[in-house]
Amino acid sequence: MDKGNEDSVRQMRELMKDSLRTQVNFFLSDQNQGLPAPPLQKPVREGQELIPLPGEKAWEEFRGVDVVDAIADRRSTRSFARASLTCEELSFMLWATQGVKQVLGPGAALRNVPSAGCRHAFETYILVNKVDNLESGIYRYLALEHALVQEQCRDDIPTLLTSATLGQEFISSAPVVLVWAAVPYRSEWRYLETAHRVMLMDVGHICQNLYLACEAAQCCTCAVVYSGRIPCPSTRSSSMRLGSRSTMLRSFLPRLSQPSAR
Ligand SMILES: Cc1cc2nc3c(=O)[nH]c(=O)nc-3n(C[C@H](O)[C@H](O)[C@H](O)COP(=O)(O)O)c2cc1C
Repeated sequence: MDKGNEDSVRQMRELMKDSLRTQVNFFLSDQNQGLPAPPLQKPVREGQELIPLPGEKAWEEFRGVDVVDAIADRRSTRSFARASLTCEELSFMLWATQGVKQVLGPGAALRNVPSAGCRHAFETYILVNKVDNLESGIYRYLALEHALVQEQCRDDIPTLLTSATLGQEFISSAPVVLVWAAVPYRSEWRYLETAHRVMLMDVGHICQNLYLACEAAQCCTCAVVYSGRIPCPSTRSSSMRLGSRSTMLRSFLPRLSQPSAR
């Protein structure tokens, strides 16, 4: 490692340290300045129709797996035996990774995964290649309604996936890919500059629940760093967020996994 690399590596290490927390004046956060908490999820655009997902009864069949076995057997898998995923399987995976247990008030809800300060900064985009009864395209999960909205209908999902993961071919055969994209302000509202560190921690918890849900549903998955953009038409502010450098989508945060049949 040359001197230049060493300096920048050391600089990046700062993100892992908690020392920043002692230097930030949290009295200046928007939360402490009395600004309202940002919404729990991005709004649905005019004309977008909600696609309801099957509820709890649909995944009764996934209850049989012992949690100890699920933890022990979890692994990353990069080939997929079955061509398509059922809506029930997709629904279960979305519930396991971002499902809402209880809305506590405006801007706060308990979910099936933990999140620092209960900020839950992520939106889930679903890149559907082959899911029964869903046309191929990009969807977004509405955790509050346990439903989907279609963002884009497109038939080039495999190509999109390979290029967004820097040429990892195996992803093109995944029936579905979940992309967790941060809405940074949800966490910055409370944590200011310390938000980004905890958002990185949060996304790991989400991904682990996906691995465990895949064990229960006898599917498989692999976490992958997604370095592409999700090109979706949206409200002015949200499309700017998705495309801008201020989100972590382009830079380093979002993880992508593809649940699939074993
Ligand atoms: C944040 C993260 C990013 C990863 N990125 C990739 C990737 O780009 N391609 C890949 O094939 N596996 C990727 N993996 C999977 C790891 O290679 C895998 O977890 C590791 O080899 C250990 O294997 P196991 O998950 O089966 O225990 C990633 C895992 C994590 C947690």
